[in-house]
Amino acid sequence: MQERYAKIAGWGKYVPEKILTNHDLEKMVDTSDEWIRTRTGIQERRIRTENDTNSSMAVAAGRQALEKAGLAPTDVDLIIVATSSPDYLLPPVSSQVQHMLGAKCGAFQLGAGCSGWVYGLVVGTNMIRSGAYDTVLVIGSEIISFAIDYTDRTTCVLFGDAAAAVVLTASEEPTGVLAFELGSDGSDYDALIVPDAGSSNPLSQSTIDNRNGYIKMDGRRVFKFASRTVAQSLKRVIDQAGLLPDDIDLFIPHQANARIVEAGARLLRQPVDKFYMNIHKYGNTSTASVPLAMVEAIEEGRLKDGDKVAMIAFGAGLTWATVVVQMGVGEISPAHSLFSAARLNYLAKRTTNKVIDSVQMSLLPLYTWFVGRNKKK
Ligand code: ACO
Repeated sequence: MQERYAKIAGWGKYVPEKILTNHDLEKMVDTSDEWIRTRTGIQERRIRTENDTNSSMAVAAGRQALEKAGLAPTDVDLIIVATSSPDYLLPPVSSQVQHMLGAKCGAFQLGAGCSGWVYGLVVGTNMIRSGAYDTVLVIGSEIISFAIDYTDRTTCVLFGDAAAAVVLTASEEPTGVLAFELGSDGSDYDALIVPDAGSSNPLSQSTIDNRNGYIKMDGRRVFKFASRTVAQSLKRVIDQAGLLPDDIDLFIPHQANARIVEAGARLLRQPVDKFYMNIHKYGNTSTASVPLAMVEAIEEGRLKDGDKVAMIAFGAGLTWATVVVQMGVGEISPAHSLFSAARLNYLAKRTTNKVIDSVQMSLLPLYTWFVGRNKKK
């Protein structure tokens, strides 16, 4: 049987008009523009207006993606909406989105924290690769500001609202997701949590008194997890695709903290300008973060047909999800050819990389200690 692939055929985004700057936040909590910029890279973020709902934002992004692909809503076989901030606890927002778009297909909501959209991309891809469906719409939509305590300076400076989407269509040419990793480590489930208003601690007066209906985050724990995971998972998935980090044209990391991205670039021994960042404009838009960055990278000409892109998201759970994607159609990796000079060259470089990686990993504790020591001085 002819192998099937899932092509990224269309993309779209929606960002609310309202801008909340670091200077605005200086008037709300004990923080400074300088602290936020140097510790996170964020300058401003978007916050939903009274006209924006999770479903309306998802529909705007989804509609744009369909138009770009030249498809009608009725062409779609499945809609996946990744989110942690649906309009209601019930129904799943995906059914509202399906109805508002005018699509006639199955739809489900996917929850995997900030990693949700990349999880959705993998699920949608494999629905197409298996032959079950031909066209899947994958949306990440987030009004995360609803769960932010704007008296808590440790979280309120980080997050913003946005939505973004892609349409996947069946293709016989090698394209779309070439390799992936979906990860979860629930032992750290409480590092990023909304303690109340779920079934464990239903909404009560104490929820309001203790502000427990908002996101509580152990930033340092998430930071450590993310700094470790970004480079390691990217290395594994790039290897699984039969590629080397040098073969990747653009990295699109979760836009949570510019310092996490810089650490990832160092560990991958890649220039930081190969890592796309729009965190300064939007902050962390949770599950919309990676697709929004992807859409803007395409709009700015940083990502085009023929390019290979590696994307990684991480978040509550704790979860992570990593993909290597072929945009349009590109060259097959020499790793898959039976015998050639290119394959020998690939194998030599891969072996050298592995040796450097293992030296780097054994020196990492020393490096972390040294950086910490300099920071304290
Ligand atoms: N303004 C000024 N000072 C602040 C602020 C603020 N907004 N926030 C914290 N501080 C203070 C702290 O209180 C602390 O003061 P202290 O030393 O007197 O106790 C000091 O700054 C340093 O705090 P740290 O937590 O050590 O600061 P750090 O450099 O680790 O940066 C940050 C904090 C930005 C939250 C970082 O830990 C981080 O980015 N973590 C990862 C977060 C993340 O990625 N979360 C999203 C996951 S995605 C999802 O699913 C939602």
